[in-house]
Amino acid sequence: MDKHMLVTGGAGFIGSAFVRYARKEGRRVIVLDALTYAGNPDNLKEFINERNLLLPVKGEKIKRVSFNLDGFVREFKPERVEEKLLSIKLRDYQVHRVDDVKKKLQELQEEEFIFVVGDICDKKLLHEILPFVETVVHFAAETHVDRSLLNPESFIYTDINGTFTLLEACRNEEIKRFVHVSTDEIYGEAPFGVFYDENAPLRPRNPYSAAKASADIIARSYFIAYGLPVVVVRPSNNYGPYQFPEKLIPLMTIRAINNEHLPIYGDGKQRRDWLWVYDTARGVMLAHDKGKDGEVYNLAGGEERENIEVVKRILEELGKPESLIRFVKDRPAHDRRYALNSEKAERELGWKPEKPFEEGLKETVRWYVENEPWWRRIMEENEEFRKFMEEWYKER
Ligand SMILES: NC(=O)c1ccc[n+]([C@@H]2O[C@H](COP(=O)([O-])OP(=O)(O)OC[C@H]3O[C@@H](n4cnc5c(N)ncnc54)[C@H](O)[C@@H]3O)[C@@H](O)[C@H]2O)c1
Repeated sequence: MDKHMLVTGGAGFIGSAFVRYARKEGRRVIVLDALTYAGNPDNLKEFINERNLLLPVKGEKIKRVSFNLDGFVREFKPERVEEKLLSIKLRDYQVHRVDDVKKKLQELQEEEFIFVVGDICDKKLLHEILPFVETVVHFAAETHVDRSLLNPESFIYTDINGTFTLLEACRNEEIKRFVHVSTDEIYGEAPFGVFYDENAPLRPRNPYSAAKASADIIARSYFIAYGLPVVVVRPSNNYGPYQFPEKLIPLMTIRAINNEHLPIYGDGKQRRDWLWVYDTARGVMLAHDKGKDGEVYNLAGGEERENIEVVKRILEELGKPESLIRFVKDRPAHDRRYALNSEKAERELGWKPEKPFEEGLKETVRWYVENEPWWRRIMEENEEFRKFMEEWYKER
């Protein structure tokens, strides 16, 4: 029986799009995701059955680090995390609480899809899963820049320590490919007209991008030092269905649907390069299949827009007035522009983004209109989301 592809962070926005893409291609997948505030089993609903959702009971580290408004990190005991998961996020699913993950995975060999709820910092769990894994695609991370400004610690915990723990666990296993998903933000601000290629220096300017830059460098060092077949991809700003409601496009879309004001940082002229999430999924898979060991591939959307322009297009799409826009105090260290050159991915992987932004944005806005129960549930039940929105936008 073929081994599975391990997808960390598979219950998040890009990870779940990648799982959908991989399953369509018939790949066998094990998802490992801790279901933090951003992880959502509903993103993988179509693949979860009565057998394949596992919650290890003796996780070494299934503690969640909670985002705390006074700047401190609160750690919940494993039992509390499990209790909360079972009573809220996982309550619609049949969950198997397992003592012996290895034995359970042995029994589930025939399953095309398996979901293990667990932390990438849990060494013991990784060693139980990895014997069943042929390749690793690593998405799991704390990802929201604004949160990293309020609480950098969880970013260091997952993005740096978690990536290191995963790489280290893979070092002594027969892993044929390790794709590390990095980001364009590690290059830092790009002056107008400049497009960074893979050799540009890394100049991250906030805790999120600094943590991701560290992870990127550590991942590559595992190829140089130990020969682990690592490939790094650096995608630009992603957008599409299932993105957590605190990021720009879903946040503005949902607030506009609810006729709430739209808080735009500073002058709204920050520029981002937008990439359709399934174009990313295809690029990650190409890097997985065809990437050269130790190499880095930028994935650029080629669709640079000012934030204010994006927000106005969302309003237009929803038929809502521009009077909803409210300019608010900018966030600290806000990078004005990110921009990539992805000729290398085109040349070596045969990858090019296919979805025009205009079309993708329409589709995304429509998805949020049609999938209100998905985001309503997050707004009503996700305590951390509510706390963050209150605190961050209180004076904005
Ligand atoms: N969203 C973007 O625009 C973008 C652009 C470039 C790169 N990336 C990178 O792509 C990856 C995925 O981003 P996303 O937007 O889908 O993020 P997301 O926040 O939607 O999802 C992250 C997922 O990781 C899981 N996770 C977090 N900590 C974990 C831990 N310790 N153990 C196991 N699972 C954990 C969460 O539960 C969640 O499901 C990240 O590495 C991010 O840096 C994102």
